[in-house]
Amino acid sequence: MVDVDSFVEEKVDEIATEVGDANAVIALSGGVDSSTAAALAYEAIGDQLTPVYVDTGLMRKGETEQLRETFDYMDSLRIVQAKDRFLDALEGITDPEEKRHAIGEQFIREFETVAREVDADYLVQGTIYPDRIESEGTIKSHHNVGGLPDVVDFEGIVEPMRDLYKDEVREVARDLDLEAIIAERMPFPGPGLAVRIIGEVTEEKLAVAREANHVVEVELEDHDPWQALAAVLGKATGVKGDNRVHGWVVAVRSVESRDGMTARAQNVDWETLQRIQSRITGENENVARVLYDVTHKPPATIEYE
Ligand code: XMP
Repeated sequence: MVDVDSFVEEKVDEIATEVGDANAVIALSGGVDSSTAAALAYEAIGDQLTPVYVDTGLMRKGETEQLRETFDYMDSLRIVQAKDRFLDALEGITDPEEKRHAIGEQFIREFETVAREVDADYLVQGTIYPDRIESEGTIKSHHNVGGLPDVVDFEGIVEPMRDLYKDEVREVARDLDLEAIIAERMPFPGPGLAVRIIGEVTEEKLAVAREANHVVEVELEDHDPWQALAAVLGKATGVKGDNRVHGWVVAVRSVESRDGMTARAQNVDWETLQRIQSRITGENENVARVLYDVTHKPPATIEYE
């Protein structure tokens, strides 16, 4: 990328000119992309921007609290509690694409409600270059690209980072003084923990996935992966205390990558893997096994669904 300072200055000017006196909304996920886009747009148009954070119930541990703290300076921030509605929408769905679709639809409904309320003419999105490439192909439907604009009748879509790669977005985030926890945070998919759960999303699996992802993020921090995660695969037999149990199988995945389009499984030492295993099985009584995923992308994807 060219110079970060001039990129920021240029985009702030562009957004201010394009939006003028109108109102804009942005869906804030807590990830680095939407956070950076929101910070850029807020700098440009202040409270004419309503950042909307939909708590889908599919978020990482502590994510909502963290987001509330980080964006506390934006008076117009809206936090929508929608967990029950998302779980209802996902009930009985096992197909990965159907799942993404259900989440996307519900998300649009939640977002649309706020966009109408604040009478927004513009939609700001944190779309980055790899999102556009993957959505143009047939790899998978990313719910943060494509869906939203068709529904609410926006006058314009503003995508200040559409030509940037992830590492460039991080540079912009640092330039905007976004806290390290956001600027350096691993990417997290729009559909959240739902794509780290094979089959139907239930409260029980979500709880296991949330805790296991937290353990993985904490324990692998020193290994500096591009992305590290845990996925709930299914059930298998194990022994806990004196009893045989039929518990969850959790896969741990840690990858190195530049932009997520290809990735290499990380060579994590045995001791660290054992610590992760012991914490995940110890802290979740319903987990019977922990596996480490050694597959690169391709042939696997980074997420499980
Ligand atoms: P995959 O699993 O396709 O993921 O190798 C590549 C990168 O994209 C993220 N990802 C998503 N991000 N909506 C998103 O916003 C999605 O539906 C989605 N699916 C995958 C994934 O976390 C990885 O960084």
